[in-house]
Amino acid sequence: MPDVRIVHTVPELRDALAGVRPGLVPTMGALHAGHQALIRRSAAENGVTVMTLFVNPTQFNDPGDFAKYPRTLEADARAAAAAGADIVWAPAAPEVYPPGFATTVTVAGLTDRWEGASRPGHFAGVATVVTILLNSAQPLRSYFGEKDFQQLQIIRRMHRDLVLPGEIVGFPTVRDTDGLALSSRNARLSSSARAQAPVIHRALNRMTAAARSGEVRCDVLVGEGLAELRTVPDAQVDYLAIVDPDTLEPLGTLARPARSIAAVTLDGVRLLDNMAIQPGSRPWDS
Ligand code: PAF
Repeated sequence: MPDVRIVHTVPELRDALAGVRPGLVPTMGALHAGHQALIRRSAAENGVTVMTLFVNPTQFNDPGDFAKYPRTLEADARAAAAAGADIVWAPAAPEVYPPGFATTVTVAGLTDRWEGASRPGHFAGVATVVTILLNSAQPLRSYFGEKDFQQLQIIRRMHRDLVLPGEIVGFPTVRDTDGLALSSRNARLSSSARAQAPVIHRALNRMTAAARSGEVRCDVLVGEGLAELRTVPDAQVDYLAIVDPDTLEPLGTLARPARSIAAVTLDGVRLLDNMAIQPGSRPWDS
């Protein structure tokens, strides 16, 4: 296996970095090819790449979910090394949240809707831990997947507002050959749900195609996506919407580049996806 140094404490991390500002890839482990793509990008753009591996208790609303989350440090370290990480920082919980820890970072507005509505407190947990990780590692660049689009936009806003170090780099969603966005949760799908799951990508594609052919009414575009999702009767739609990419507010008319976002539950597993969508050629353009 290529060399990777595993460190646990902040002093060990700083010692390993020896003053170099790294590329940072924050993860909760259970690595898949999407994480490895982030690491490869960081390794291409930075002299040193640190992958953090911390299953963050404060972003789980369900303690059962937190307990069940896979913890596979050795396999993750191997996968991180193979993708080009130099250091794996795997802090224990008291390193991140020392006794008496009393601070929470909340990003107003952006966190209220969509995932925030279904998972109260989730984004405060994410924002708080990402602030701690960035302040500890002082990265030049930090890499996050676009698959969790709302998370990425919240991190961008908080990073700007709090003048956190380095630059935030969003990385395009990595998909399986059938279009399903890679996620650690996919491993929990039954084989029949796994076979049905690409319907989410098909629904987003159908919306983008309808926009390209000139439809600008967002309710009609969302209707196209819902029609596709209904081809899988087991798919429970939590939300399907077209939103402003910065404010995440739902749009009535597609007048500028936007984002379609979806959360769909299949067989008890909640799956997220999103896609860029923009106004296409309109009948009066031709
Ligand atoms: O996307 C994730 O894996 C987590 O939310 C993150 C950004 C590593 C924070 O715990």
